Amino acid sequence: MSSAITPTQKRRLERAARAAALASYSPYSKFRVGAAVLTGSGKIFAGCNVENASFGLCNCAERTAIFSAAAGGERRIRAVAVYTPTAAPTLPCGACRQVIHEFGADALVISVCDSDRRLERPLSRLLPGAFGPKDLLTE
Ligand code: THU
Repeated sequence: MSSAITPTQKRRLERAARAAALASYSPYSKFRVGAAVLTGSGKIFAGCNVENASFGLCNCAERTAIFSAAAGGERRIRAVAVYTPTAAPTLPCGACRQVIHEFGADALVISVCDSDRRLERPLSRLLPGAFGPKDLLTE
């Protein structure tokens, strides 16, 4: 069981996700996304979506943030915030849910947008029955 994310941590995470969206490289979809992850050591890593002329290579904001955390030596994700400049909050896509699961099976996912609407869901609810590292254990 992981300890609860404090209101201050949530605020910091949401602010980092909003700021990260400013760097979004999304000339094709024009859909800006920012994300930020809170790691086990209490650090925050942010990222934005990065698109490519070869569309299949587009990378979501959540994965940019998570890969940045992993590259920084962090192996545990406690919470993920996603920001989209929309009226309704956006939850992570399926691929990102799987990538969050790798480092944060019990992470809290927070989605914020340009209205007061927000969503908070444990990842376990967004990706029930997930395949993960434990499934590769053969003994
Ligand atoms: N996108 C994200 O960054 N995160 C999501 O969870 C959903 C989609 C990005 C990918 C692409 O650059 C754009 O939004 C449109 O799909």
